[in-house]
Amino acid sequence: MEFIDEIKRRRTFAIVSHPDAGKTTLTEKLLLFGGAIHVAGAVKSNKIKRTATSDFMEIERQRGISVATSVMGFEYNGTKINILDTPGHQDFAEDTYRTLTAVDSVIVVIDAAKGVESQTEKLMNVCRMRNTPVIVFINKLDREGKDPFDLLDEIEEKLKIKVRPLSWTIGMGKKFKGVYNIYEHKLNIFTQSDKQIAEKPIELFNLQSKDLDYYITEDAADVLREELDLINGVYSDFILDDYREARVSPVFFGSALYNFGVKELLNCFINIAPSPKESKTIERFVYPDEEKFTGFVFKIHANMDPNHRNRLAFVKVCSGKFERNKNYLHVRSGKKIKFSSPTAFMASKKSVIDEAFPGDIVGLHDTGNFKIGDTFTESEQLHFTGIPNFAPELFRYIENADPMKSKQLNKGIVQLMDEGLAQLFISTLNGRKIIGTVGALQFEVIQYRLLHEYGAQCRYEPISLYKACWFDSDDEAKLSDFKNRKYKFIAKDKFQRDVFLADSAYSLQMAQEKFPEINFHFTSEF
Ligand code: G4P
Repeated sequence: MEFIDEIKRRRTFAIVSHPDAGKTTLTEKLLLFGGAIHVAGAVKSNKIKRTATSDFMEIERQRGISVATSVMGFEYNGTKINILDTPGHQDFAEDTYRTLTAVDSVIVVIDAAKGVESQTEKLMNVCRMRNTPVIVFINKLDREGKDPFDLLDEIEEKLKIKVRPLSWTIGMGKKFKGVYNIYEHKLNIFTQSDKQIAEKPIELFNLQSKDLDYYITEDAADVLREELDLINGVYSDFILDDYREARVSPVFFGSALYNFGVKELLNCFINIAPSPKESKTIERFVYPDEEKFTGFVFKIHANMDPNHRNRLAFVKVCSGKFERNKNYLHVRSGKKIKFSSPTAFMASKKSVIDEAFPGDIVGLHDTGNFKIGDTFTESEQLHFTGIPNFAPELFRYIENADPMKSKQLNKGIVQLMDEGLAQLFISTLNGRKIIGTVGALQFEVIQYRLLHEYGAQCRYEPISLYKACWFDSDDEAKLSDFKNRKYKFIAKDKFQRDVFLADSAYSLQMAQEKFPEINFHFTSEF
């Protein structure tokens, strides 16, 4: 196949949702369609069990297993699909955000009964920041849920996106009769007994046809006609470019559990979702169809084997063809490196590959040399941007609990931060070290790994903070005035940049209002 066709047929995306909305179930159904797994439950068994325990050792063990589900690649109707997992339960971390820096589009899953929930809002903030095209899947229609029009309003309001239904639900819960596929003009009727196999849809262009009454009853048909009229009146026609430019998000309805509405979603997705796009570097734009390979590290999975500090760096291929055993430049160190066993992820299997194309994710074995955001090229000095740190929300002071091991502790902290586990800030007030994370589990992981991998012991002390955000200003005088007045709340990040430690949402808001010349940033790239 021509190189350009390899690029065009790739769809690299993530499924994002609040825990329990049905992300794992939907992923599994997509894999079943792709023939990548053959029984339901294959992905689920790898999922971090939310009920299991808050014991992070157990979670880390499962994380070890779930490395295979970090990226799930499969073929479907000539399309190469790469689904990137966004960990969401106790293992919610900056990694979850960062994964979104490596995708070309996302599917957002929303529980019809619960509507838009907090984690979805947080993840969507990252998508909006990056202008990522979004498709919404409203799930669990086999159960009673909110009114679909109310749901659409809620999605527009909370996720700050414009929506356009491309399918519509016919009832809900006990009265759920199926879905009308607006995109393909097809009627899909729901039968509870057919749990795993999607119904054969009925082509129905003319909604006034008596056939509709026959299939779903007269009453339901009248309601559907009315609602579809309303949709066509309220929402503008679907325009592909509007979706691709992230100006509008198509919405689908279904039930992932009953595999209902999923195939419609997938078929539309492969048609409309973008193939790999250009990526930004400090120096220039990089286009996927360039001849030479480039890529960046967006995630590092540690603890593959704790005894050897064996890690797997996840690299997104941005341009050219990646080849096994070819020398590539690791731009930050200036070293040429050859990879003899790069891995790819087909469904839940990890295997050594000879080549990979733009949009693919390659796993590279690393003994501690790579950092999040590192760039690989054939020889060009490029630095990919758009892989920032995200403003953390949980904080603790970290102290040395074994004075004999302070060197080990410092080294360990630096390396774990490079891996993207958490962020380190030094308070300018007292020089104390503060660890900031977006997920609670990271504190335990850091403590455990410092001890087991570096022989260092740490202890935490509480600090009451709401958020850490970066700031700057064009006005030097105002900047130093702000720093003087807020000196108790200023810290430096690992690059010696200024960070404001807001102790409450109110104090952050007040700072933003009182110091309009200061720009506050919620990611480290600005
Ligand atoms: P997540 O990855 O987003 O956290 O959600 P997951 O797919 O694990 O789904 C959470 C729960 O919701 C599961 O039930 C799952 O079976 C259920 N679910 C997912 N999609 C649907 C749907 O379309 N309809 C209905 N009725 N339920 C759905 P559970 O009881 O927590 O887990 P399990 O014992 O079924 O595995």
